[in-house]
Amino acid sequence: MPEAELVVIANRLPVDRIAGDDGEPAWRRSPGGLVTALEQVMQKVDGAWVGWAGKADLDVEPFDFDGTRLVPVSLSEEELEDYYEGFSNGTIWPLYHDVIATPVYKRSWWDAYVRVNRRFAEAASEVVAPGGFVWVQDYQLQLVPQMLRELRPDIVIGYFHHIPFPAYGLYAQLPWRRQVLEGLLGADVIGFQRVSDAGNFQRSIRRVLRHQTKSDTISVPQPDGTTRTAIAKAYPISIDAQSFIELAQDPAIRARAVEIREQLGNPSKVLLGVDRLDYTKGIRHRLKAFGELLEDGRVEVGDVTLVQVASPSRPGVEAYQDLRDEIELTVGRINGDYDTIHHTAIRYLHQGFPREEMVALYLAADVMLVTALRDGMNLVAKEYVAVHADNRGVLMLSEFAGAADELSSALLVNPHDIDGMKDAVMRAIEMSPAEQSRRMRSMRRRVLENDVERWGRRFLADLEHIRSQRTAAAS
Ligand code: G6P
Repeated sequence: MPEAELVVIANRLPVDRIAGDDGEPAWRRSPGGLVTALEQVMQKVDGAWVGWAGKADLDVEPFDFDGTRLVPVSLSEEELEDYYEGFSNGTIWPLYHDVIATPVYKRSWWDAYVRVNRRFAEAASEVVAPGGFVWVQDYQLQLVPQMLRELRPDIVIGYFHHIPFPAYGLYAQLPWRRQVLEGLLGADVIGFQRVSDAGNFQRSIRRVLRHQTKSDTISVPQPDGTTRTAIAKAYPISIDAQSFIELAQDPAIRARAVEIREQLGNPSKVLLGVDRLDYTKGIRHRLKAFGELLEDGRVEVGDVTLVQVASPSRPGVEAYQDLRDEIELTVGRINGDYDTIHHTAIRYLHQGFPREEMVALYLAADVMLVTALRDGMNLVAKEYVAVHADNRGVLMLSEFAGAADELSSALLVNPHDIDGMKDAVMRAIEMSPAEQSRRMRSMRRRVLENDVERWGRRFLADLEHIRSQRTAAAS
């Protein structure tokens, strides 16, 4: 098999399997942010991407797609239940998002997680060139770095954690807390979204493994008595700002934004929420605040409409099924109480949309509501900011989303404080164009400066640096 200088490993491949024009299965680039993020990097080097093809028991040979070699990892129905729905999304996801939902600790899930992580590590170890780079992505694959290090001591390993890393008091619940930290520490560079995530990780390392940490570095004792240095620090991820700016200039998309407002009955203010349907996103809190504003008569149907896009996510996990029921009950009640024949209070869409439609929605929205209870970064916030080149629009942003570190000029809110959220919505609705512009200008500067290309470059530069240190030490 040809060898790749840079191998990315993620739970999912960057493509979706669809039915082609001739009815045969075909592949299409998936819309996710990470895919766009790494697309440019991968095309510049000899790259490979190891990941799951999105369906159970799909055995596909490696293939080339847009200049990148894709290496599918096959997962059985049972492995998906135990490794993906179970340990990844029933244990780690809720634990790392501050136990908003109760994590379930199940030994059979852990066993499957170890087994599947090994399969990913083995697949990558077979394609990476001697002395090459492997960049592991996210919480589904925390054991892969150490497994890879054992299989291929010659390579440089990076790991990026897209979700929060919790405070030690919560992390300590994990029955496998030692093994997970050892797994992550197999990487030379461990990246986090926020400075506070990196801090939480370092504290766990000190408490559980007793390793010494200093600033961004961790001293990792080696079996031969020497120590190795690992880096753990923040690399806040971003978006391909330029591509959003270009879409926002497209006359067809701009016309669509106008049409959306018309189709909503031309309310004077359009509020927008765009999330995966996930309990971390604070959708219920947002609906509660909006419902109360209608009840209090502070906003009127017809005057203000909330569009809530909740894209379907992880439907096999019980907490997600329960959340969907709750949200749909709440939306139904609010609309039942306040809708008129002409106007709806909440236009709820349990659907995913192509990027063009998302940009039209962002353009159509006067106020963007990002009220996550906990979120690694939240790229929707950055996308909303990027498309508003006219500096109009208000971003209401939870302080518990990673994006709040960079977008401090947003209207920051604590989503648990319903009265505070209601006041913030009113402030957003009533904000003067001058204030909108001042805030938006400063946020756009940040998003345009720290785009995803820069994020990738910063991380890979640190991997490069480690490789040159290693080469220098060996010569
Ligand atoms: C979050 C995670 C990603 C994950 C995505 C979609 O953004 O950080 O790793 O891919 O959600 O979730 P899914 O379970 O559908 O892959």
